[in-house]
Amino acid sequence: MSSVIPVPRVAIVVVAAGSGQRLGAAAPKAFVGIDAHTVLRHALTGVFAAPQAQVVIVAPASRVGDALTDAHEAAGDRHDLVSVVAGGATRQQSVAAGLAAVWPDVEYVLVHDAARALTPPAVFARVIAALQSGRDAVLPVLPVIDTIKRVDGDAVVEAVDRASLTAAQTPQGFRRTVLDAAYAGASDDHTDDAALVQAAGIAVSTVAGDERAFKITTPADLERARTLVGQAAAPVGILPRVGLGTDVHAFGGDGTLWLAGLEWPGEPSLHGHSDGDAVAHAIVDAVLAAAGLGDIGTHFGTDRPELAGAHAAAFLTQTRGLVEAAGFQIGNVSVQVQANRPRFAARRAEAEAALTAALGAPVAVSATTTDGLGFTGAGEGVAAFAVALVVPR
Ligand code: CTP
Ligand code: MG
Repeated sequence: MSSVIPVPRVAIVVVAAGSGQRLGAAAPKAFVGIDAHTVLRHALTGVFAAPQAQVVIVAPASRVGDALTDAHEAAGDRHDLVSVVAGGATRQQSVAAGLAAVWPDVEYVLVHDAARALTPPAVFARVIAALQSGRDAVLPVLPVIDTIKRVDGDAVVEAVDRASLTAAQTPQGFRRTVLDAAYAGASDDHTDDAALVQAAGIAVSTVAGDERAFKITTPADLERARTLVGQAAAPVGILPRVGLGTDVHAFGGDGTLWLAGLEWPGEPSLHGHSDGDAVAHAIVDAVLAAAGLGDIGTHFGTDRPELAGAHAAAFLTQTRGLVEAAGFQIGNVSVQVQANRPRFAARRAEAEAALTAALGAPVAVSATTTDGLGFTGAGEGVAAFAVALVVPR
């Protein structure tokens, strides 16, 4: 296939090799999830929706494989245009590593921060158009909205006229020869490429940036990105759906108690098909109901002997598969147990972790007694009530 794709005159270097100190997540910033997809994957979605270009991703050396996975998913049938290289200790060194991988025939190079994950394709198109109209260096900018003050320590020195100020974004675009020369001659470290090129004496012109091209820097920025992506995923008219499930089992089963996905040695066991785990069964009913897929009997009837001794994980994992196959993602589940025993306080977190892992979505567990009233108060059995939320995908 590659022979039929013309060599693009544009390359986009996506720098994703930073550690994300200010974000403070467990993974390097570009590999943190916004939703089911990483920061890098979202950035690449914008890159591949822009005019066709060679794409060079610069990743931390330990993450080159992960970056390739994201790259191939985002590139689809254009995966021949993508490569991944390892970055350096500073952003400037990372850009230099990416530039070294740009194909010889490329005329224009855009440098883009993966951290600006939600940058719309139109910004790339504007930068490329300005380069094609003859500019050497192009910077997408946004007007500064806040009133800006110059300070000395905590004392305000003066107000700065914001009309002469602008906020710089990426992708920043350059005639390739200009950028190569600026990098070859660079001595100081600059925070962006436009500054480096300008230091080399090249005029930089501006095009309109976009608010969605903000850089994910702090945890609050990541929240903002998550909100924007969530809004896009749930267009008006496609609402989330809720479901309710309840289950009751009497004490008097064989073996040990299994409840909320945990084994409870020394506790009386519950009667019922499979292990009698009323918590798991209520969750399955709630999730299936939310997706409009019937109930536990529809999918896990007593005519399935392979489920006779099955525990929560088997039911929940299969339920998740059914719901996803029907086009839904599970949002979350809240489940309450009513019982005198077992006492959940000490194992609540453990139960939540087990159920969450099996279902692939957050499960919150609460437990209560019923002040001696009813069959749960009399210690005859256990009742569980679950509510689930699912979202169309
Ligand atoms: N970057 C890079 N190589 C570096 C440093 C930064 O490729 N050595 C990339 C980042 O991955 C990011 C972009 O440059 O996409 C902008 O940098 P920044 O937002 O500062 O990211 P980090 O350096 O990762 O974050 P922090 O400064 O908070 O550590
Ligand atoms: Mg940084």
